[in-house]
Amino acid sequence: MLPENLHVYNHPLIQRDLTLLRDKTTPSPIFRAMIKNLARYIVYEASSSLELAPQEVQTPMGAGQGVRIKCGHIVIAPILRAGLCMIDGAFEVFPFAQVRHIGLYRNEETLMPVEYYVKIPEELAADTIAFILDPMLATGGSAIAAVDILKRRKVAQIHFCCLIAAPEGIERLAEAHPDIQIHTTSVDQGLNEIGYILPGLGDAGDRAFNT
Ligand code: PRP
Ligand code: URA
Repeated sequence: MLPENLHVYNHPLIQRDLTLLRDKTTPSPIFRAMIKNLARYIVYEASSSLELAPQEVQTPMGAGQGVRIKCGHIVIAPILRAGLCMIDGAFEVFPFAQVRHIGLYRNEETLMPVEYYVKIPEELAADTIAFILDPMLATGGSAIAAVDILKRRKVAQIHFCCLIAAPEGIERLAEAHPDIQIHTTSVDQGLNEIGYILPGLGDAGDRAFNT
């Protein structure tokens, strides 16, 4: 059974872009463009629970009542490499967000995440809301490690935003971090014997960066 903190978005435009993303004949410029589009949709949806505070606004006609997002600090945290392609989509939703890069790769044999670049201050502002970005949630190892990294910095709220998720990874992430929200545009069939998502899209980083 899928956990309560999982949110799956399947708007027709999302399904259309996801199909192009999966297609093995899609060239990398279009692949990156689809990741950007989907990132914008998913971060927009993931932010629907943000709290608002009242704020007065002066229109050309006089004073009116408006709102502002209550939380002062929005962090976008892409997991390298493929998460980099999601930054610009997220910036379209939060143009003034801070970007905190998280460098992780999966050891191809053990499938365990290896940390190689994290330059984030030991503590972030207490009211920080973080959106972790990675197109793929496979075994869940990288996602769990990224959440651990941000939790050590004491952020207030964490949203993990991915595009394609395997049920195995969702279960592991939800078990390790039941207090975060997991957002995806697809829950696929599962993992193959070497930890790739089926049907998935292949290797996201390689397809995005032509390697
Ligand atoms: C991919 C993907 C995730 C990770 C998911 O990155 O972008 O970060 O695998 O797998 P997991 O859920 O089993 O941890 P990869 O490790 O291939 O690094 P790369 O983007 O640099 O190629
Ligand atoms: N990482 C990828 O890029 N693709 C998968 O299917 C699994 C992990």
